[in-house]
Amino acid sequence: MRYLPLLFLSLLLLSSCQKEEKSYALDLPPGFPEVDLPEDNLPTPLRVELGKRLFFDPILSRDSSISCGSCHFRRLGFADDKVISPGIEGRLGFRNAPILTNLIYRENFFFDGGVPNLELQVVAPVEDENEMDFHLGGVVERLARHPEYAALLEKAYPGKPLTFAFTRAIASYERTLLTGQSAFDRYYYQGDSNALDSQEKRGWQLFQDKGCRDCHSGPNFSNEEFINIGLYADYDYNGDSGRRRVTALDSDIGKFKVPSLRNIALTAPYMHDGSMQSLEEVVDFFASGGEAHFNKSPQMQAFALSAQEKADLIAFLESLTDWEFVQGTD
Ligand code: HEC
Ligand code: HEC
Repeated sequence: MRYLPLLFLSLLLLSSCQKEEKSYALDLPPGFPEVDLPEDNLPTPLRVELGKRLFFDPILSRDSSISCGSCHFRRLGFADDKVISPGIEGRLGFRNAPILTNLIYRENFFFDGGVPNLELQVVAPVEDENEMDFHLGGVVERLARHPEYAALLEKAYPGKPLTFAFTRAIASYERTLLTGQSAFDRYYYQGDSNALDSQEKRGWQLFQDKGCRDCHSGPNFSNEEFINIGLYADYDYNGDSGRRRVTALDSDIGKFKVPSLRNIALTAPYMHDGSMQSLEEVVDFFASGGEAHFNKSPQMQAFALSAQEKADLIAFLESLTDWEFVQGTD
């Protein structure tokens, strides 16, 4: 309590510094919940614009060949269509590139939840030897020499170091990547009962009846939990033990964050390692109940699915594509 007046004062100072920059109104899709924004990184038009430029600029990689946009494509819901996306010099990491939409609703980042916020996440690809293979010192040096970035970042984040500014600008841009105008959204969140056809409606019912929604829930189709679905009987085969990489607990082997299903028809291949090529393969897998594993979720139970039901379920998943978003310009 003692620190409260101080906190108040610094918030006041912060907001007075930011007065010159008008705030950026996030365009939350209809029916989506309100969001909390980080106090030290409230979006402004300049912050978002700079973040976007940096996201698509290879300046952040050691040999200036790779940008964030080399692995995250808008037309693919900000995922990639490769099993593993090549980084600098064609090097390969070990996980499939996920979508970057509605990140504002995510509680932590990466399949194992190893990163607590978007600002910090930016550092990971920059420093990953298989992605951009660079370091913050190098980035800052380049930004400082650049004819525009240094001055614009100073304007966007007055008095802050460049490392602070460029990571926050990119995070600000990412928070604007909001998708929620699919046929399903028009049906479910906007009350247009004709937005889904009868097959898609049957698929939505099956999605609930077969337990998919127990894990893929909420506007982002994820309960944000870490779950072992029995993708493998032994997760050591490719050295990716999932959540255990963060907690070192054997009870976390094979647990991965429940992925969002937004624009899912465009984001093949699927799963953390890109091991499934099609939605049909994914649905067959869930119907099989998965492999036996001591950490497998009890919610993973085999179920019967007729050919018609399978087609219905896939039609529902396809109705989650927000064409306006994916066909938009960067
Ligand atoms: C070489 C390809 C590649 C590049 C370049 C790349 N990413 Fe990624 N990105 C990935 C992969 C693969 C993952 C999944 C990593 C994991 O879960 O361990 C990922 C995950 C993420 C996530 C976490 C999403 C979530 O829901 O957990 C964010 C955010 C992200 N990337 C943003 C960026 C930004 C910002 C940049 C540029 C600074 C960038 N990426 C550059 C491949 C790439
Ligand atoms: C017990 C929780 C749970 C249930 C039930 C569940 N899922 Fe999942 N789902 C997950 C997790 C966790 C992953 C990621 C696993 C991985 O990458 O190893 C996943 C992955 C997926 C993917 C791939 C996403 C991507 O971007 O790679 C799709 C599609 C999917 N689930 C659809 C479904 C459907 C359809 C159902 C119902 C038939 C279903 N899920 C039931 C937890 C669940």
